[in-house]
Amino acid sequence: MTEREVEYLISQAVKARERAYAPYSNFAVGAAVLTGSGAVYTGCNIENASYGATCCAERVALFKALSEGEKDIRLIAVAAEGEKPVPPCGVCRQVMVELAPQAEVIMVNLQGQRERRTVEELLPAAFVKSSMR
Ligand code: THU
Repeated sequence: MTEREVEYLISQAVKARERAYAPYSNFAVGAAVLTGSGAVYTGCNIENASYGATCCAERVALFKALSEGEKDIRLIAVAAEGEKPVPPCGVCRQVMVELAPQAEVIMVNLQGQRERRTVEELLPAAFVKSSMR
């Protein structure tokens, strides 16, 4: 992926954050995923009065991409306001391992700090399909 694609993806995650539905935590998160064909899918966190029904921004973006037939997810950008870039939760890491095992994740905060990790780094020794053999 090009530097320009990376910058664009980050800007889309920051923009998607503005659409967060987070009346319970008031913590808005945006995400954007880049596919091998250069397509971008965005997501924001969507909360629920039944808290467990909440979906994180990363999963919304990944599910949007997969449901549109995308299989080759290269980069996932996550944007939130925090002292440091916000890391994805454990459930999202597990979903990333399943749906975007080769991807990198770039976490950004609104002050412009960035952290970049592979999915493998975020969830090493993961439980995967082959673990059940
Ligand atoms: N959240 C995300 O959307 N992504 C993350 O990486 C961390 C947490 C959301 C879930 C919930 O709506 C709120 O942030 C507080 O946990």
